[in-house]
Amino acid sequence: MQQITNQSLLSFMVPSEDQGIAVTNPATGEVLGFAPVSSEQAILDGIERSSVAQKEWAAMPAKARGALLQRWYQLVIENKQDLGRLMTLEQGKPLAEAEGEVVYGASFIEWFAEEAKRTYGETIPAPSGDKRLMTIKQPVGVACAITPWNFPIAMITRKAGPALAAGCSFVVKPSESTPLSAFAVAELAYQAGIPRDVLQVVLGKDARQVGGIFTSHPLIRKLSFTGSTQVGSILMQQSAHDIKRTSMELGGNAPFIVFDDADIDAAVAGAMVSKFRNAGQTCVCANRFYVHSKVYDEFVTKFDAAVQNLKVGNGLEQGVTTGPVISESAKQGIQSLIDGAIEQGAQPVSEQKQLDGLFVQPVVLKNVTHDMNIVSQEIFGPVAPVISFDNDEQLIEMANDTIYGLASYFYSQNVHRVFKIAEALQYGMVGINEGLISTEVAPFGGVKQSGIGREGAKQGIDEYMDVKYLCFGGN
Ligand code: SIN
Repeated sequence: MQQITNQSLLSFMVPSEDQGIAVTNPATGEVLGFAPVSSEQAILDGIERSSVAQKEWAAMPAKARGALLQRWYQLVIENKQDLGRLMTLEQGKPLAEAEGEVVYGASFIEWFAEEAKRTYGETIPAPSGDKRLMTIKQPVGVACAITPWNFPIAMITRKAGPALAAGCSFVVKPSESTPLSAFAVAELAYQAGIPRDVLQVVLGKDARQVGGIFTSHPLIRKLSFTGSTQVGSILMQQSAHDIKRTSMELGGNAPFIVFDDADIDAAVAGAMVSKFRNAGQTCVCANRFYVHSKVYDEFVTKFDAAVQNLKVGNGLEQGVTTGPVISESAKQGIQSLIDGAIEQGAQPVSEQKQLDGLFVQPVVLKNVTHDMNIVSQEIFGPVAPVISFDNDEQLIEMANDTIYGLASYFYSQNVHRVFKIAEALQYGMVGINEGLISTEVAPFGGVKQSGIGREGAKQGIDEYMDVKYLCFGGN
C-alpha cells in the first residue's frame, strides 16, 4: 500500500485471499490488501501460548509493564499519520477524525501505563483482635476481546491497555471490516517490546467461530466485547457456561434534549459533534432529538443550516467531514429508517439527495413523533430526527423509554433543572451542555441493555483484576 510511509506497520499482510481476507475501502470499493486468517488450531495454540506468557508478564513489576506500555504509546503517536491514513482507507472516516482516533486510542495506552502502578489493595479493620485483614488485586489471567469496525484502534487500546497494565495477556479479534489498523497498532506494541504471545490479534474463518472459541476456552477468564446488544447477549450466554467475567459495551439510543432555557447556538454545535462524528456511526451518537416547542423552530433551522455545510466524500479528500457508511446493508438500513419515518409523517428539513456508493447525505427530520420506529432503533447513520416536547415530566418519560442506557445529552442553563434532569436520566453517561463526552480519564459504559462494566478511568483496570482477600490469623 503506497500511501503508508512506515511499511513495517504492514508486515503482517499476506499476499492473497488464499491465506487471508480481503479488506476493501468503503469509499471506493477497491481491495486494499489481505489480512491474515488463522485456522482454529492456530487460535487454540495461540491461547495456550498466551496463558504461558501471562505468568511471566504478571510477574514483571508493574512499573516495568507500564514502561513498555509508555513506549507503545509513544510509537503510536509517532505513527499517527500512517495509522490515521490506514484507518481512513479501511474504515472511511475523514483523515482528521482518523488521526483524532489514533490520539484518542493512544490515550488509553498512556493512561493505563500510569495506572499499572496504582492497583492498590486495602487493609480492613478486623472484627477481632487476633486477626489482620487485607486485600490484594491480581490479574484475571488470559483476557480476550472482540472489537468493532467503527473505532478500529481505540476500541482495542481501551481494552488492551488495562488488560496488559493489570498483568493479563490479551487476545483480540478485530472486526473483519477493519483488521489492518488492528494488526498495525499491534505491530507497534511488538516494536515497543511487548511480547507477541502477550498481545495477539487473530482473525478466524468467521466471527462466530472465534466468538465460540473465546467463550468456551477454559484458559480464557475474561471477555470484553464492544458491539450490538444482540451479539453481546449471545456472548454472555456462552460465557456463562464456565462463569467467565465479561464486560459489555453495547448499543445505545442517546436522547439529545434542548430545553427552552438552553443556549441554542451551543446546542447546535453540540448536536453536530454528537450526531455526525464518524458519519453517525458511534454507540454514543445522539440518536433522537427532543427540543422544547418554544425553541423548536429556531433549533431546527440553525441545526439544518449547519448540516447543509457538511461535505460528504472520500475521507482522504481535503474538507470532507462525512465519509461513507461501512457497508451496503448499513446504508439500506439507514435509508429504510428515513423512508419509514417519512411515511409516518416526518419531513426532511432540506432535500436528502440519494448518493452513489456507500455515501449517505446527512439529513434533519422534523415533525417526528416519539412513537415512530426511527426513535426506538439505533440509526447508526447521519440522520437526526427532531421531536417537540412541552413539559419536563413528559420529556423524561420519553427519554428513558428505551431498552438502552448508554449516553444522553441535554442543554439547559437552569442549574436546578440541570441536577434534576441529570439524576433522572437512566443512562451511564450524561453530557450536560456538551456533545463530546469520551475521554480516557472518565468511566465509559452503560446501564440497562447497553452493557456491563466501565472502560477507561480508574475503574477500567478493575475489569481485568480479581480482588483477593487475605485473612491473617493468630496475631
Ligand atoms: C463507541 O461507539 O462504541 C465508542 C465511542 C467513543 O468511544 O466515543
